[in-house]
Amino acid sequence: MTRVLGIETSCDETAAAVVARGENGAPVILSNIVFSQIEEHAAFGGVVPEIAARAHVEALDGVIEAALAEAGTSLEEIDGIAATAGPGLIGGLIVGLTTAKAIAAALGKPILPINHLEGHALTARLTDRLEFPYLLLLVSGGHTQIVHVAGIGRYERWASTIDDALGEAFDKTAKLLSLPYPGGPSVEKAAEKGDPARFAFPRPLKGEARPDFSFSGLKTAVRRAATELAPLAEKDVADICASFQAAVTETLADRVALSLKRFRAVYPKLAEPTLVVAGGVAANAAIRATLEDLSRREGFFLVAPPLNLCGDNAAMIAWAGLERLEKGLVDGGAMAFAPRPRWPLDETSAPLIGAGKRGVKA
Ligand code: KG4
Ligand code: ZN
Repeated sequence: MTRVLGIETSCDETAAAVVARGENGAPVILSNIVFSQIEEHAAFGGVVPEIAARAHVEALDGVIEAALAEAGTSLEEIDGIAATAGPGLIGGLIVGLTTAKAIAAALGKPILPINHLEGHALTARLTDRLEFPYLLLLVSGGHTQIVHVAGIGRYERWASTIDDALGEAFDKTAKLLSLPYPGGPSVEKAAEKGDPARFAFPRPLKGEARPDFSFSGLKTAVRRAATELAPLAEKDVADICASFQAAVTETLADRVALSLKRFRAVYPKLAEPTLVVAGGVAANAAIRATLEDLSRREGFFLVAPPLNLCGDNAAMIAWAGLERLEKGLVDGGAMAFAPRPRWPLDETSAPLIGAGKRGVKA
């Protein structure tokens, strides 16, 4: 049984997990501990990098101990240590990667610096034993992109946001409406009682031939509506949220459809072409339902990992490490690998433009 310890500290979750490949070849999550810092950042309406880095230092040792204890595994039984090395907030990355290197050096085991986006990209192979190739829609607080996943280390970005990430649009909308942080779940909840047809918000890039996403115009439209109506009644907030979500799902379906068609054209013989959705925004029920509909219409199979593995976690980092370890993709110089606040998954695609490149949150 191959066992890998994974560490994730790229944003506001301090996480550690032990993942293994059992005798029968099936992946097993032996433990998956996530210590959320949400409460420490809530008063500021967003993640404060300095607070995050300090909180990682304070929590990480205990979180690793908890992950090993829950897995019933000693450090000696671990075959490799995987840690997120980017993209993300530099302070947190340094804490996680340095700790992982120290453990690896003490044990004489391989260190596996992992791209956080690769963790999201490979999660469906951990949860559903999905075969390559597949299409990935990654929607989180820092990224909105469609990636053609052809194999381990073989990623091709087909589309991305040209401005805000989708999670960021949810968070900014929540902030404008004075809804609690983190914004996504608050907006989704408020939208349940709202009228999605009351505001005709824009559907950015809908109908355009390029497959990319844009959300900043939507945010501006929300701000305008909120300013005109102020002070807002509860019904106004609900209607704005419902109308915002209607615009998001409609534009998302239109944009994603283009990449589904491209994938079909690249793999005309694939019996069951698959779309995987990952990232925190994948928790949104309206978005999941939209993607289900779209996939059915286009003849795709939709894989949406369970909610606790959609958001940031260390099981996905341990899993990416395990896949790399098994393939012999271990870099002899990895001890010298420096954290990379910006680290595109697909280094061959054109550089990202706009805020979507920041990689502050993934
Ligand atoms: O992947 P994730 O947990 O963390 C990083 O971005 O690194 O994603 C967090 C993002 C936040 O922007 C949050 O508002 C959004 O996912 N989110 C949601 C929902 N739950 C979380 N957005 C829409 N609807 C939700 N239910
Ligand atoms: Zn992430």
